[in-house]
Amino acid sequence: MSLYLRALPSLSLKLRPFYLKPPLPLFYLNKFLKPISVKPSRSLSITASASPDTLIPVSKKPIDESLLWVSRSGLCGDLSENDVGKRVCLCGWVALHRIHGGLSFLNLRDHSGIIQVTTLPDEFPEAHSVINDSRLEYVISVEGVVRKRPAESVNKKMKTGMIEIAAENVQILNAVKCKLPFLVTTSDDAKNDPFKEEIGLRYRCLALRRPQMNSNIMLRHRVVKFIRRYLEDLHGFVEIETPILSRSTPEGARDYLVPSRVQPGTFYALPQSPQLFKQMLMVSGFDKYYQIARCFRDEDLRADRQPEFTQLDMELAFTPLEDMLQLNEDMIRQVFLEIKGVQLPNPFLRLTYDEAMSRYGSDRPDIRFDLELKDVSDLFIESPFKVFADAVASGGVIKALCVPSGGKTYSNTALKKGDLYSEAVKSGAKGLPYLKVVSDGDVEGIAALVSNMDQSRKQQLLERCAAESGDLILFAVGSHSSVNKTLDRLRIFLAHQLGLVDNTRHSILWVTDFPMFEWNSLEERFEALHHPFTAPHPEDMKDLSSARALAYDMVYNGVEIGGGSLRIYKREVQEKVLKIIGISREQAEAKFGYLLEALDMGAPPHGGIAFGLDRLVMLLAGANSIRDVIAFPKTMTAQCALTCAPSEVDPQQLKDLSYRN
Ligand code: AMO
Repeated sequence: MSLYLRALPSLSLKLRPFYLKPPLPLFYLNKFLKPISVKPSRSLSITASASPDTLIPVSKKPIDESLLWVSRSGLCGDLSENDVGKRVCLCGWVALHRIHGGLSFLNLRDHSGIIQVTTLPDEFPEAHSVINDSRLEYVISVEGVVRKRPAESVNKKMKTGMIEIAAENVQILNAVKCKLPFLVTTSDDAKNDPFKEEIGLRYRCLALRRPQMNSNIMLRHRVVKFIRRYLEDLHGFVEIETPILSRSTPEGARDYLVPSRVQPGTFYALPQSPQLFKQMLMVSGFDKYYQIARCFRDEDLRADRQPEFTQLDMELAFTPLEDMLQLNEDMIRQVFLEIKGVQLPNPFLRLTYDEAMSRYGSDRPDIRFDLELKDVSDLFIESPFKVFADAVASGGVIKALCVPSGGKTYSNTALKKGDLYSEAVKSGAKGLPYLKVVSDGDVEGIAALVSNMDQSRKQQLLERCAAESGDLILFAVGSHSSVNKTLDRLRIFLAHQLGLVDNTRHSILWVTDFPMFEWNSLEERFEALHHPFTAPHPEDMKDLSSARALAYDMVYNGVEIGGGSLRIYKREVQEKVLKIIGISREQAEAKFGYLLEALDMGAPPHGGIAFGLDRLVMLLAGANSIRDVIAFPKTMTAQCALTCAPSEVDPQQLKDLSYRN
């Protein structure tokens, strides 16, 4: 029988109020919480350091090996003033432990929240003594009665700050037997105990106990739950799982390969997305498919990229472009409203790819700030300043970025070797030409540039850039892609450095009309900008190589949160597109024969989208990295800090796979 049930008949309600005046020291046990050393290892920069030095028992008492199975009556965070007088049994972790003037109390934490527990030493000396024996992060069960705190003890910062549990029976279910690498406690305390991210990844079970991580994971759960309800209940979508062991799907990254034992020398590829399977489902007639799908991409990692990530993937048949965009807009609007209480615009702004590249130098612009780019090539075609004139003559472009009041903020030295200059260089630019607008419409800056501009050119430049006295004009010169890359990077850098990002605004938009292909000059061939199953714009069917695609990306605050397209649903068109990217008929047959075949078996018009669920949750949670919203993410070097994967394997396993060691 459970401890709770067993204890009930013997408990009596003898309450004698006693209260301790806050504030009390939070750090009673900090001395037990010295960071443990984390040694670098050969393959992984962090390692489990369960050496005798680090595993120092906190409790001197002999370890109690009995296993108790306690039935709790509810959750700490769910209790409120409505429960005053109720007898409860709670289980959780000791989040805070204080002894004051012979009285003890602690905060008890479970995933739902925290509640204060106090003891009555005279009435329940045993419970009191167990509480005294417990330490931070011990796992305990507490039986007692919910009571109201007196006015002076109310903690308005706590959800349960009006109440507490008067403990009558306390059990230590498990002790902490090593020094903890960092404090768990509350988010305020956590701020005072920062630790390296690698430590948090290595001791993930502890990091996930922290309120911030707990709330990120709970928020993720709520987002997924809401989306499921939205798609299934409101729109009749059906969730269908697709295979993990499969063949390569071309999404532009490298594949993770899994060798087959039973077919020696052959490999499965883990899916970069369920793209082709979801298209097959459309041919099968499941015309509203979705899946919370795990995807794998072996690519360089960034704060918003993981090798293993989750997509909210969907595909619909008989749904034209406009309906597709509206459905997804509405879903994201509802998610933001439900999760953050934020009302996003209706409809979302739409920018064509050309417009986004021309105005912002990026296909995922953040428009919480202006800083628009201006093409000024025509002003320099005949310029005696060779660097500019030659760039335009050879098919390049000159674009300018006007920084309001930047003339004063950035000294000439800073512009020639400061961090703005380094940003330009990091983007691949060879230099950072600039001009400063001085009074009466004149400019100063790079001497060769200034001396080669007559007054009317200066006037035209200032007008084009809407530049005023005191402003700074930065230039990038070269190919369209290099110029856009530089100015996009500078634009974002400047906005953050100059505090131009209005965090109360929400920049959400669609980018549409992407080109079908881009030219890969290294390999001298066309590549699909999205993927080769994207349908060309009906108006551009005559010349597919320069066609626009019926593709769309959703961008929030400069992050691509989702992307999709309407698909090619006729074999002839699909074959033409594959040919443009250099895939012959035979290769197409070998790689995607099953898709081509399906297109010939009555494939309906269809299309879809996939959202990066981790990215969406990261943005909703206000986190800086998707690692903060994934329970067990990989490190920046694609390793699992817990299991030390990837790891070497047993030689016998290699043998089974027909590999020689
Ligand atoms: P795409 O490749 O644009 O499209 O991916 C869709 C969304 O997935 C997210 N994403 C990632 N998130 C974390 N880590 C990564 N490595 C990563 N890569 C992508 C992004 C992106 O917008 N099959 C198509 C979708 C379709 O056409 O329906 C696809 O996968 O937020």
